[in-house]
Amino acid sequence: MLKIQIINGPNLNLLGVREPGIYGNTSFESYLEELRKSYPDVTIDYFQSNVEGMLIDKLQEVGFSYDGIILNAGAYTHTSVALQDAVRSLTTPVVEVHISNVFQREAFRHHSFLSPVCKGVICGFGMTSYRLALEALISDKK
Ligand code: DQA
Repeated sequence: MLKIQIINGPNLNLLGVREPGIYGNTSFESYLEELRKSYPDVTIDYFQSNVEGMLIDKLQEVGFSYDGIILNAGAYTHTSVALQDAVRSLTTPVVEVHISNVFQREAFRHHSFLSPVCKGVICGFGMTSYRLALEALISDKK
């Protein structure tokens, strides 16, 4: 059984409510329920925090034992050297995910501190970005 951790950063607790034109109408909890049903052979754990240090603690907790991490660090993607340092310390592969296509948006979203230390990046497919990241981690293990 593969163990995958999904980590969502700041403001992603508001999915379904926050800027629906960009992020859609679905809450992460209901998306996650569907995702878990579609992948009964994968253990998918979920953690969300608005606090940078809590994201780092979770990365350190799972990042040496899990098979993969799907990380949407929200705005910390564009600001956080501390998250980059955390990700680069881990042995578990991390896939950086964004719901929106950050390259179609403001210039400050075009830079990521995380991309250079992640296994890969998926962005712009709405919530499906998470499923694509999961597929990538699963096929990487085969
Ligand atoms: C986001 C894109 C970030 O620029 C933004 O700060 C977010 C969400 C996305 O999933 O599209 O909070 O990571």
